[in-house]
Amino acid sequence: MIASSAITNELEKTVASIARPGKGILAADESTGTISKRFNALKIPCTEESRKAYRELLFTSPGIEQYISGIILFEETLYQKPEIANTFPELLLEKGIIPGVKVDKGLINIANSQSEKTTQGLDGLAERLETYKRSSTKFVKWREVFSISDLTPSRLAIQTNAENLARYAAICQEIGLVPIIEPEVLIDGNHTLIKSFEICEEVLHQVFHRLHLHKVVLEHIILKPSMVTPGKTCLSKTSPKEIAEATIQVLCRTVPCAVPSINFLSGGQSPEDATQNLNSMHRFRNVLPWNVSFSFSRALQEPCMKAWLGKTQNILTAQDAFIKRAKLNSLACLGEYDSTLES
Ligand code: 13P
Repeated sequence: MIASSAITNELEKTVASIARPGKGILAADESTGTISKRFNALKIPCTEESRKAYRELLFTSPGIEQYISGIILFEETLYQKPEIANTFPELLLEKGIIPGVKVDKGLINIANSQSEKTTQGLDGLAERLETYKRSSTKFVKWREVFSISDLTPSRLAIQTNAENLARYAAICQEIGLVPIIEPEVLIDGNHTLIKSFEICEEVLHQVFHRLHLHKVVLEHIILKPSMVTPGKTCLSKTSPKEIAEATIQVLCRTVPCAVPSINFLSGGQSPEDATQNLNSMHRFRNVLPWNVSFSFSRALQEPCMKAWLGKTQNILTAQDAFIKRAKLNSLACLGEYDSTLES
């Protein structure tokens, strides 16, 4: 189906509202399992109420709208009622922040692979998207993961996951929701920067090939890739300059300039490293055809969650910690971050 002009206008408006210079996306869409793990590590009880309280703390942090243009919610949050608004999407829209939702249904094993993963949730997706749209959602997210080892990612995993991302994106655009396309090349392992470079290049190449096959309009997507980094347990040290150069080179080889915005995931980097690496990419900003920004979960939230610890008396300190990271990442999107600002 060719999109109507009303749908096209909707998609254009959403992309323009999210891809504003100096602003990025907060990923607050951790599944119940994932947020439980993060809360448990800090001995914070994980209940529907505590998840709501935490996310309300984040979204009502004073000045958040200066740095954050979009927030990805988990489905549960979409239907919870905050203290100061009818719904979380309403609360965000009042601040000029665009509400989105994670629509994938998590990872399962790919049969006949070395325990590689694919993402489920395509069945019935169009119907679910219509429901989310009625709840004021403007954009959505789907994540596929690729693990690096001697035998992986396999051709099977790369092709399967690229196909899923493209099918998902095509369905979203038909309904008027901007798809965030998240192919995450995982940081786990001891692989080198060069290995990561090769895998990221291959993955992105295949993703864009499938997007083309499925007639996805590149002007109406947001790409959420990993930065090209060595594995977490790789012994050789890599500088932010090397990471930035490798990442930008891979993106220049694989991502057409029709794509409006690239918003990186943080993928287990420390908050400071993620900010520094993002900033370093802006050395090339005069030649970058895309808006280059962030869509971080852990790198924006870690210090905030540690400051909160589930206690009402810590809310203000936790909000300060969140705003500090949001502001520093906003500066990094403009190439204006400096590590001295950390203190
Ligand atoms: P991280 O920034 O913690 O990698 O999370 C991004 C995300 O949304 C994962 O799907």
